[in-house]
Amino acid sequence: MGLQKSFDTPKMVTIEKIVDETPTVRTLFFSDEILSKVLPGQFAMVWIPGVNEIPMSVMISQENGKAAFTVRKHGLATTELFSKKVGDQIGIRGPYGNSFTIKQGKMLLVGGGTGLVPLIRLVTFLKKSDDVTIIIGAKTRAEVFFEGLAKKLLEGTSHKVIVVTEDGSYSEKGLVTDVMEKLLKSNRFDAIYTCGPEKMMYKVVQIASQNKSYVEASIERMMKCGIGICGSCCFGDVMACKDGTVFDGTSLLVNKEFGFTHRNKSGMIENY
Ligand SMILES: Cc1cc2nc3c(=O)[nH]c(=O)nc-3n(C[C@H](O)[C@H](O)[C@H](O)COP(=O)(O)OP(=O)(O)OC[C@H]3O[C@@H](n4cnc5c(N)ncnc54)[C@H](O)[C@@H]3O)c2cc1C
Ligand code: FES
Repeated sequence: MGLQKSFDTPKMVTIEKIVDETPTVRTLFFSDEILSKVLPGQFAMVWIPGVNEIPMSVMISQENGKAAFTVRKHGLATTELFSKKVGDQIGIRGPYGNSFTIKQGKMLLVGGGTGLVPLIRLVTFLKKSDDVTIIIGAKTRAEVFFEGLAKKLLEGTSHKVIVVTEDGSYSEKGLVTDVMEKLLKSNRFDAIYTCGPEKMMYKVVQIASQNKSYVEASIERMMKCGIGICGSCCFGDVMACKDGTVFDGTSLLVNKEFGFTHRNKSGMIENY
């Protein structure tokens, strides 16, 4: 499966539909043949005119030739993107980065927040014969999203969608990693994939490696160029934008930054 051909000059697209996922998370749909076909884990640089250009995972659309971004309102750029209306334009370039390795058999997907975006795309690449368990983590009931979508995509297959809230206001109480540990006591997975807050992914990779399971995580770092030139996404000795964003457990376990430090906007190292 080859990576999609990328385009490095921003291309303007028009927002055609908006879906509110939670009070602070929205999915914005637009038409683009190339982004509609990206591999799970690939991202685009999104230009919000007059504001900034930021990296965003490419979300699926269930319509041909369309793609989407699922944005959490956070700082300046994401708040502007979140506030866009149908008919507004944004610039896109990409897709960039590698992708999750598609394995077969019994799969475990562990995601939190907008980290679920590449995992939902991954679900659409798995085979009907695969047995897929997806753990969706959120702090509280109001922040749970993609539960219905995951169930719809996995309909007719052997699957489990488990929602975990930290405050117990919906479904299971605790952390995604508590549920993962419980599952691994009686199940053996052929591959485990994770995306979400780095502390969560760190724990997922540790648990997977203790259980000798194959694991991959999609890493977030500050990104400016997205194509391996500026160095703002340094992750140990590698560049998250070009060498990743997906790394396997073996390389993550020897990367001293993973789970502990990252670089801020001026390149200074900060602790998580
Ligand atoms: C590969 C990748 C995929 C992403 N996918 C999504 C997604 O699907 N949905 C979503 O809501 N968010 C996603 N993000 C995070 C999103 O890019 C940042 O939240 C956004 O850039 C913050 O910009 P801001 O102006 O809103 O916030 P700011 O106030 O500028 O920054 C807030 C924090 O966001 C992070 N951040 C800021 N600028 C960048 C940048 N250029 N690159 C990376 N992180 C930055 C920093 O940790 C910063 O401290 C992704 C990030 C990466 C690297
Ligand atoms: S974002 Fe510029 S090198 Fe990765």
